[in-house]
Amino acid sequence: MNQLPTITPENLSFPILPGAWPSVGHYPGAAWDTPKVLREAQALGPLVWINLSGWGLIVCHPDGFELLKGKTLSIAPMVRNSGDLVADSVLSVDGAEHRRMRGSMNRPFTPEGLSGEGAAKRMAELVEARSKGMAESTRFNALNELRDLALDIIFGVLGVPDADLPWWREKYQRTLLTSFPIAKSVPFSPAWFARRASAEIGQRLQEEAARAQAEGSPGLLAALAHGRDEHGKGLNAQELVANVRILGLAGHETTASILTWSLAYLSLDDALWDRLVVEANAAGHIPQAPADLKKHPIAEAIFRESLRLNTPLPVMMREIVVPAEVAGVTLPAGTPVRLPLWLWNRDPDRYPEPERYNPDRWLGRDRKPDPVEMSPFGGGAHFCLGYHLAILEGVQLLTAMAQRAQGRRLRLVKGALPAERFFPLIQPQGKDTEMVWERA
Ligand code: HEM
Repeated sequence: MNQLPTITPENLSFPILPGAWPSVGHYPGAAWDTPKVLREAQALGPLVWINLSGWGLIVCHPDGFELLKGKTLSIAPMVRNSGDLVADSVLSVDGAEHRRMRGSMNRPFTPEGLSGEGAAKRMAELVEARSKGMAESTRFNALNELRDLALDIIFGVLGVPDADLPWWREKYQRTLLTSFPIAKSVPFSPAWFARRASAEIGQRLQEEAARAQAEGSPGLLAALAHGRDEHGKGLNAQELVANVRILGLAGHETTASILTWSLAYLSLDDALWDRLVVEANAAGHIPQAPADLKKHPIAEAIFRESLRLNTPLPVMMREIVVPAEVAGVTLPAGTPVRLPLWLWNRDPDRYPEPERYNPDRWLGRDRKPDPVEMSPFGGGAHFCLGYHLAILEGVQLLTAMAQRAQGRRLRLVKGALPAERFFPLIQPQGKDTEMVWERA
């Protein structure tokens, strides 16, 4: 990988997005307003140089998705950019190493695995408990509640007992302070607390992983500890711990944001809320397994449409390792690329009136979503491991909230969609996600 030539705007001629700052490039602009920067790039052409964590060719053309499906890309630039966060995990490797890790991790995250390992039922219990709390509150902060739910679900399905979930939640949230730009050695700084929490989590994870090696141990952690790829190879102890960290990182803010956006849209559309309530009450209980999702098309459509318009990970970083064709051009090995999931999910040829929130575009179809429609979850080798879990969690929560409405509607205190924040993910602003119940 290191022998690849370094391709830059100087030796590959494409339009260059103006407005890059010295050393930080377009980052300040993107952190302030990602959609504006992406649209400005799109206006210049299908392939445009942009400086987001270094120069890369942003593939505004929706055909860019094809690149993800092939074997022409490496995840190396993302790894260089993310440092410790992804080290030793499935998100840090390509090719055979990645196939080994993914191969040994996939099974418990398939629909059958989620049902068979008891994860789906455990999720349903945690969703019921959290939605009960929200239903009984006169006012709650949706993003905070759903962040906690997302973390409880990840650690709960791994096998952590209810009583220990608050410990894991608190420590995990602290580890995310690592991104603070203060040296980790400065005592009592956020990064110092993050490092301590990270060490504590690492210690506990090693103990839990060792316990999970024991026969009959419940939860997905045991399934991951014993998982094997098609050649009988699995994760070593260090990789097991790193991948459990990644499950939390990849699966909590993303899912919490989309659930919050879904409740926000519902609070502004009484007709949609009424349809969801009818569907939820007809089903009787929330889905207990992915196979139950067919009874909940409206809840699933709400989740998918919220995800389309609020793609949490707007741009993925890659590097071309084998010459690859995109938008009619062959890009040489060594070309850094930026893949804008956010733009592709607003392609007007695929989604008429792309800016309109319209869950009905997912209904009345006789086919499952195709890979491009699933692209908020990425694509190709690194396609989201938690896809089935996230969809199930979304439908469970929306259904549970509708079932507990009892003639009430949810309202955002703000009375309008939350403002967005753009860094490190696209998320609703937490201060705008306060909700109350109102008699219908
Ligand atoms: C709405 C919710 C979610 C969204 C939008 C989402 C999105 C994504 C995206 C875009 C990627 C690809 C990253 C890349 O290729 O650079 C990814 C990968 C991944 N996601 Fe998710 N994710 C979600 C939920 C989850 C959940 C709930 C889990 C785990 C329980 C999870 C675990 C992972 C893992 C482990 C990977 C890395 C897979 C690999 O490298 O092979 N995600 N996700």
